[in-house]
Amino acid sequence: MRIIKPAILFAAVVATPVMAQQWQTLPDTPPTPEDNPITDAKVELGKMLYFDPRFSSTGTVSCNSCHNVMLGGEDNRPVAVGVKGQKGGRSAPTVWNAAYLSVQFWDGREPTLEAQAKGPVTNPIEMGMESHEVLVNRRLKAITGYKPYFEKAFGSGDVINIDNFAKAIAAYERTLITPDSPYSRYVKGDKKALTEQQIAGMKKFASIGCGGCHSGPAFAGPEQPLGKGFFMKFPTFSNNEYVSKYKLMEDGGRFEATKKEADKHLWRVPTLLNIALTAPYFHNGSVQTLEEAVRVMAKTQLNKDLSDQDVADIVAFLNGLTGKFPEQTMPRLPATPPSVVADIVK
Ligand code: HEC
Ligand code: HEC
Repeated sequence: MRIIKPAILFAAVVATPVMAQQWQTLPDTPPTPEDNPITDAKVELGKMLYFDPRFSSTGTVSCNSCHNVMLGGEDNRPVAVGVKGQKGGRSAPTVWNAAYLSVQFWDGREPTLEAQAKGPVTNPIEMGMESHEVLVNRRLKAITGYKPYFEKAFGSGDVINIDNFAKAIAAYERTLITPDSPYSRYVKGDKKALTEQQIAGMKKFASIGCGGCHSGPAFAGPEQPLGKGFFMKFPTFSNNEYVSKYKLMEDGGRFEATKKEADKHLWRVPTLLNIALTAPYFHNGSVQTLEEAVRVMAKTQLNKDLSDQDVADIVAFLNGLTGKFPEQTMPRLPATPPSVVADIVK
């Protein structure tokens, strides 16, 4: 009998939702695929491509339009607005620290930043280019001033192609990181980096159970190899007023990508780094304040009603996840040749 006891105890500890949270911080550099090491030349080119609106059909929308790196890395809109004012169905997530995430998109349908970066240009409601071929021939190659930058980053030969377009952007995105925050300084030993209220909120975050999903260095779940996601059901508890009020079940989540019944309403656990800057919240941007987002999470994911004090403390803690941002300057872009003017006007 005696021998069984510790085993049972152990199981009970593991299963309890009020697990003590292990506090982790971001490493100074994000994981990088072997075939795309970061170089200064790639980052320089990637930044130009990221800010250039001429890779949209109308010449008006760049990556930065929806993921503004002068702000929180998104657009503070419920859903993104692309070419010709078209609205998409989901909110733009932040690009800040996306480099640390093991899968991309709310539903985790792309494994890497490289794979992700090829999508928006041909998405009809985002940047609206007809095809990658059209992007490469009528824009990237036509703007001849890009050639030396591609050659510097990728060598000579036929280097202006969609793969290198995506690789350069991904290299730039791997510089969009905020490993230094009051939270990370606190965890590393600076006990004054967080206020008393923030520390109280940190403890509540763990004891209430938020850390059951938002664990790991990015608060996006335990670390996974690139390409493997950490998914959870949202809402887990659906018998509450929030579900209809904020239309939380209209989007099937991961199901929309895989069409597997078991993936219905599964979502990647998103990062909470810089969360104070990225309102409105959730995949459909339906919740405007961080206070309300915390209440919704407690109810839909943990079936708990929080006091106003709990909410205020947790929000104070989440503000401690706002990082120190590397300064961004606007790149100078190569001139627009007549053929590209004509292509944009047509
Ligand atoms: C019209 C607005 C719009 C434009 C333009 C746009 N995006 Fe996005 N982006 C979104 C939306 C919306 C999502 C989330 C879609 C989803 O999850 O289904 C997203 C997702 C992402 C993600 C995933 C982040 C995460 O946490 O999962 C990255 C990275 C990203 N975009 C980078 C880019 C890059 C690079 C470009 C330019 C090549 C770009 N985006 C252009 C709206 C936009
Ligand atoms: C069972 C897993 C789970 C638990 C527990 C959980 N979350 Fe979440 N959280 C998620 C998922 C999944 C999402 C993405 C929801 C969506 O698709 O919009 C999310 C989204 C969020 C968001 C919005 C992110 C954004 O970018 O819009 C915040 C803020 C948040 N959670 C905070 C918390 C807090 C605070 C707690 C504790 C009260 C908590 N979460 C508990 C899984 C969880």
